[in-house]
Amino acid sequence: MTDSIDELREDALRALEEIRDDDALRVWRSQFLGRRGAVGKLFGAIGSMPQDERAAYGQGVNALQRELDAAYTEREALIQSQMLARDLEEGEIDISLPAHPQRRGGLHPATRTHREFQTIWADMGFQVYHSRDVEADDFNFTLLNLPPHHPARDMQDTFYTKDSRVLLRTHTSPGQIRAMREFGDGGTKPIRVILPGMCYRQEQVTARSEIQFTQVEGLAIGRNIRMSDLKGTIAEFAKRMYHPEAKVRFRASYFPFTEPSMEVDVECFLCGGEGCRVCKYTGWLEIAGSGMVHPTVLRNGGYDPNVWSGFAFGMGPERITMLKHGIQDIRYFWGNDLRFLQQF
Ligand code: DAH
Repeated sequence: MTDSIDELREDALRALEEIRDDDALRVWRSQFLGRRGAVGKLFGAIGSMPQDERAAYGQGVNALQRELDAAYTEREALIQSQMLARDLEEGEIDISLPAHPQRRGGLHPATRTHREFQTIWADMGFQVYHSRDVEADDFNFTLLNLPPHHPARDMQDTFYTKDSRVLLRTHTSPGQIRAMREFGDGGTKPIRVILPGMCYRQEQVTARSEIQFTQVEGLAIGRNIRMSDLKGTIAEFAKRMYHPEAKVRFRASYFPFTEPSMEVDVECFLCGGEGCRVCKYTGWLEIAGSGMVHPTVLRNGGYDPNVWSGFAFGMGPERITMLKHGIQDIRYFWGNDLRFLQQF
């Protein structure tokens, strides 16, 4: 029986060498390697062989199949390169024609700024933690010191799911509780983390407000963290993000999850603080909400507020992207209009 394997090998390879074009190549393939081809027939013969010859024979046919497959691939490549050479010679391919333009995709401008923020914070030693978009009401509000009837809940009109305890997060702050519980090791370890991601609010969509936007939240917990740490850290971020000599200022404010709370402004990077239309002639642009983590929030994260302290901040990259590129209307961001997107 091995004779028939050798014979077939010889026949097949000889026939293959004479093939000059694609059509003949296809015929050869079905004749030898197709389902009803010659190699298949050899496989079919296994059944009628004595038991003790089957294994060796089967291996022989397998080897033949692999060999013919490889020879086929090699021949195919050769024929194709010869055809190409012929076409070029006969002028059927005009290599002076301009190539088809390649369309390149790009990152969304909001994604770019978002990533720029992340890179800077990561370089400054903050771990990047992606918390969830679909949140429990408790994490979005209650554990952040916004109890069910707290008036500050009105600031954020919320998309709830059918279950009124489950919602789309209205800010990245609930990630603070998750990060503390996940990395704090029962309130025994310091944390330095940023929480970037999409947020959702049920708002009237206008040129200035959208129902979805990104935020970058920051959280640092340690034994001796003070307000000067918060100020220094944000000032350093502003230098890296906006301008090596960017100035920042802090204004007293209120957030339920921080005490004291502050809003952070950076000197307008469009007019250098002189005053222009964009900064409404104040010379300053608001870039963040921030403050010292409220003792209740520390406790909800598993930390003892008598021993541990921390600062937190929340920033919105979209506004910066709009200012940077002179985008007048936030609705362009998620409208998916290629005429807008292709400009970046
Ligand atoms: N979560 C706030 C918002 O969406 C922003 C914020 C303010 C976050 C102060 C903070 C903070 O971590 O300390 O408006």
